[in-house]
Formats: sequence, structure tokens, C-alpha cells
Amino acid sequence: MKITVIGAGYVGLVTAVCLAEVGHEVLCAKKTTRNLDKLRNGISPIYELGLTEMLQSNLKRGRIEFTTDMEKAVEFSDVIFICVGTPSNQKGEADLDQVFEVSRSVAEHMDRYKLLIEKSTVPVNTHQKIEKIMSSITDIEFEVASNPEFLSEGNSVHNFMHPHRIVVGVASERARKIFQEIYEPFTSEGYPLLFSDVASAEIIKYASNAFLAIKISYINMIADLCEKTGANIDYVSRGVGLDHRIGDKFLDAGLGYGGSCLPKDVNALIETYQEYQLDNGLLVETRKINQQRREKFYEDIMEALEKVDGKTITIWGLAFKPNTDDIRAAPAVDIVQKLKESGAKLKLYDPQAKENFSRKIPEEGNITYYQDKYEALEDSDALVIITDWKEFEEPDMDKIKELMNSPNIFDGRNILDKELMAQKEFNYYSMGR
Ligand code: UDX
Repeated sequence: MKITVIGAGYVGLVTAVCLAEVGHEVLCAKKTTRNLDKLRNGISPIYELGLTEMLQSNLKRGRIEFTTDMEKAVEFSDVIFICVGTPSNQKGEADLDQVFEVSRSVAEHMDRYKLLIEKSTVPVNTHQKIEKIMSSITDIEFEVASNPEFLSEGNSVHNFMHPHRIVVGVASERARKIFQEIYEPFTSEGYPLLFSDVASAEIIKYASNAFLAIKISYINMIADLCEKTGANIDYVSRGVGLDHRIGDKFLDAGLGYGGSCLPKDVNALIETYQEYQLDNGLLVETRKINQQRREKFYEDIMEALEKVDGKTITIWGLAFKPNTDDIRAAPAVDIVQKLKESGAKLKLYDPQAKENFSRKIPEEGNITYYQDKYEALEDSDALVIITDWKEFEEPDMDKIKELMNSPNIFDGRNILDKELMAQKEFNYYSMGR
């Protein structure tokens, strides 16, 4: 099937490449020429496991192309995925400008029926707004459907190819049939395709992400109780998570959630509840607990080190989570900023996110970036772990002790073995243990 994908960011590129991988003929349109040559030459501008290989093999097969020509993109197919950004605006609502711009552009260029698919996360009933915009421009028949993405960064390609479920909100039999064809390579493998009305599909995305955020804030709230009472959140999480009704995922206590989705979607849902005059207390509390994790961690470091000014602190982990170079809403941004302001000398290391992070907090004065995690530890007064990269799980503790000035470790993700830290005589601080 011929498919147009508009947007070549995390969501757009993964969607386009994976749809090509299962046999569709895909044209991926982007607004500017930035990275266009790279994409055409098989170089993915984002770091995502397996994406480059899949992009290259589908370029070779001639199943994917890139363009900045909207007219060509609209002409190419009757099925158009909207995968542009919906960032938070100042109020916390989803900013839909790019979605509306694409809708207008499709309406202006279309000469026959089109099915527009909201893949980007948009608040409930956005489809009605799109319909209104398009109807004011064209008389040609079109439909708007919702097919939210559930891609988790770092695993996006795997998530797309092996979905827990594919959610589709449609308003007609015609649209339903189109989706059955698009996702036939998945349903034939047994992956569930759930149809609903469009508004429900729009809500499913927010309800899922907000639930994950609530789960994380909930376990972090319990971690505080563990810390005060001498209990250990590791045991508590495990004991709670073994109940199949609860499940063991998203029960890792620590510095809380960051990234481009959970914070933004919780914010947007808070605003939606406000708009419909519904009580948003649970969501507001979830957000508050999450923000407090970063503040508490920073204060714990300050308290333990007594005077931070003039001390050298090594940071391991800048990305908002492992296996990505994304630093959006990352706990590291707030924590590093605060430590910088307090006068500490900071040595930063992350396997993937150094470049993105240095754009936000450049290498100057007291800030230095390192290519090697051990090198970053030389003469350091404290090691602060912010992201749970696999390579931080079992480091050479003897080497670390030798390199550091003082053996202080602040583990914001509870990835080191508490008993081992005591055995090796580190001053070890973790969260809720
Ligand atoms: C999320 C959703 O998982 C995905 O389905 C949706 O499409 C987009 O948003 P993503 O933002 O890529 O994906 O990351 P995710 O793996 O969900 O992690 C989000 C944040 O929560 C990270 O900062 C992570 O460190 C944190 N987290 C996760 C915890 O603090 N504890 C946990 O137990 C799990």
C-alpha cells in the first residue's frame, strides 16, 4: 500500500521506516531540508536501536523516499499519517500548531479522498478541530482517524514491530478497511488491532501515559516511606509487582520520569481536565511528586557533602533514560543546572547524550565533558548517577575508589548493589533503600 508520513522526527521516522519494512511503499515528508541528504543516504539523525540498518535496507529496496514537497506528499497516497510534534505550550497544553498547519496544507493540495491519521499525541476531540479546518478549505471528501503511537524511545523499532496492541479510532467502515490493510502484516502475526471511535482512541494514548506516570510517582511516594522507616523499596517493588493485577513494570523508584512524552502528556491531560471542569488532583499530585524527586536528590547531595562549592562532582548519565540520546525534561538537566549554580566543578559522562546535553549546558568554566566514565572520576569528591545505563550497573568498584578523592556515591536510579557498597566502604546514598 502507498502511505505518506508527514514528519521525520522520532515518531515520523520510525513509523515511516517500519511501515516500509512490512512491505508498504512510503513517502516521508518533512518541512525543511535539514537532514534530508542524510536521510536519503541512509543516515538516521536520531539514535534508535536498529533504525539505521532498517532505513538503509528499505532505501535499497526502493520502499522509502524522503521529500520536502507537500504537494507531492499529498498526491502520493490516500493515507496520510500526521507525525509532527505536539510540544507543551507555556500553559502546559499540547501545542497543535504543526498539526493544524499540516491539515491545512493537505486540504489545499488534495484532489481526491484522503484519510488523515493522527499519530502524534493530540487531546481528545482534536479530530473535530482538524475536520473544521479542512472543511473550510476543501469540499473533497476526507476523514480523520486516530492511531496513537506507543513507542518507547530506544526501543521504538522493536515496539513498532512487536506492539502490545494497535489502537485505531475510526468513524467509518471505509477507514476501518484501510487500517486492516495497513496493519495486516501485524494482525496476521497475532498482534491485536483494537478499533474504537476517534475520541476514545485519542484518550487511550493519554490514559496510558498518565497511568505509567502515576505508577512511577506512586512507587516513588512509597520509596519515601521506605527511606524514613528503614525498609527497602527494592523488596517492596518486587513484592507489589508480583501481583499480576499490578505487574512488575514501571515500579522502579528513583529520580522519576522525564522524556518527551510522560511529562508533556501529564501536563496536557491536567489542562484537558481543567477545560472540562473535572477534578485533576491525581494528575497534579503525580507531577508534583515527580518534580520533588529531583529537588530531594539535589538536597541530599548538598547535605551529605556539606559544602559543594569548590568540590568536584562526576555525573554519570545525562539522557532521560538509557539507550537514547534524548535529554528532553531529563532529571539531569535540573540537577546539573543546580549543582553548577552551587559552584561545584562538574565532570559529565554519558554514552550517547553528551552532544545534546552540551547544547543545553555547554562545556565552559566548571563544566567538562568526558569520553570515558572512569576518566571522569579522577580526583572527584562524589559520583552522582542519574541515568540507569547498563554500563553503570557493575563498574569496577576498586578502580573507582582508587580514582576518587572521596568515596561518595549518590545513586539516583538504585542500580548499584547496596551491600557491595557497604563492603567496599563507600558512602553510598540511594533512593528509598
Ligand atoms: C513513554 C511510553 O512508555 C511510551 O509508550 C509512549 O509512547 C511514550 O512515552 P518514553 O518516554 O520513551 O516512552 O520512556 P519510558 O520508557 O516510558 O520512560 C519514561 C521515564 O520514566 C524515563 O525517564 C524513565 O527513567 C522513567 N521510569 C520508567 C522510572 O523512573 N521508573 C520506571 O519504573 C520506569
